[in-house]
Amino acid sequence: MKDWLINLKKKALEEIKKINSLKELENWKIRYIGRKSELIKFAEKIKDFSLQERKELGMIFNSIKEELEKVYQSKKEELLEEKVIFDFYHPGKTFSLASLPLIQTNLKRIIEIFRDLGFYLIDSNYIVTEYENFDSLNMPPYHPARDMWDTIWLKKPQRWLLRTHTSAFQVPFLLKYRPPIRGIVPGKVFRFEATDARHDFEFYQIEGISVSENSNFSHLRFIFVEFFKRYFEKDIKVRFRPSYFPFTEPSIEVDLSCIFCNQNGCQVCKFSGWLEVAGAGMIHEYVLKSSKIDTNKFQGYAFGTGLERLIMLKYEINDIRLLHSSDLRSNEI
Ligand code: FA5
Repeated sequence: MKDWLINLKKKALEEIKKINSLKELENWKIRYIGRKSELIKFAEKIKDFSLQERKELGMIFNSIKEELEKVYQSKKEELLEEKVIFDFYHPGKTFSLASLPLIQTNLKRIIEIFRDLGFYLIDSNYIVTEYENFDSLNMPPYHPARDMWDTIWLKKPQRWLLRTHTSAFQVPFLLKYRPPIRGIVPGKVFRFEATDARHDFEFYQIEGISVSENSNFSHLRFIFVEFFKRYFEKDIKVRFRPSYFPFTEPSIEVDLSCIFCNQNGCQVCKFSGWLEVAGAGMIHEYVLKSSKIDTNKFQGYAFGTGLERLIMLKYEINDIRLLHSSDLRSNEI
């Protein structure tokens, strides 16, 4: 029996050396030191031997059992340690990267397009004077056109306001950069306005201004058509419609065909088939004079387009309010 015990130990030690996984190790444990293993079964039989043999076999049994348990423990530790070793070949976990919001990526793209069309990029203020937002643009205090822009006035300083349109920078722009000049003024504007699917109370506009000896209406038309072609990267119908702004003469509004309903009529386009995206026209003599420009020599056009409206059309977003909301899904487009 002694030899049998020693051979069993030898076999167990040889086998455990070759083990590479915890699963194999657990099977080994069942086979050699588990409750139903041959070694433990042997312990039950030990009582059949003489006292002297029992003593000797008992000692051998205990030392083998102890040794195999120790070997088992250290092998287990070794295998567990190996598990946490860095595996260079294991495919990494994927995670989402942060990205700029649609407003910023599209603004960047639009600035690039206008830069390619020869427009300077000009920075401006969000807080402006009443003069800049209205008077300089041919809208004295009594002028009913002021009602077109529901205004958020500041308490202090008095008669200052959050600009209602980027046109508030037309005169400061032309006073600073003398003609011939072509530039865009992008930025946020604010209106005390109820919101709906296509109106927000704060949104971005991109003002375009061109003043030179021959900036004319056909240039304006060309710039719009070319800009839309490059921005949307597909054909989209453009409509120029006569309109009125006190600071342009003649004035137009620019509509794009509604992609949400294929011009069949929907909530977004208010069942007209068109979505208004810009106001524009030839700069009024009054504005040129406020800018101290010789109107016998220079003329110009200006336009103001709404960034969110363009993004809505490009990405088929049917509610403008999503773009300023904290719902991150609006950036996963
Ligand atoms: C203006 O703000 C004029 N300053 C545009 C202009 C510039 C005319 C230069 C002539 C020369 P209007 O209020 O229509 O115009 O706004 C221009 C564009 O801003 C609209 O065509 C639309 O695209 C966008 N817009 C207007 N109101 C909102 C709103 N509440 N929410 C989102 N976009 C709007």
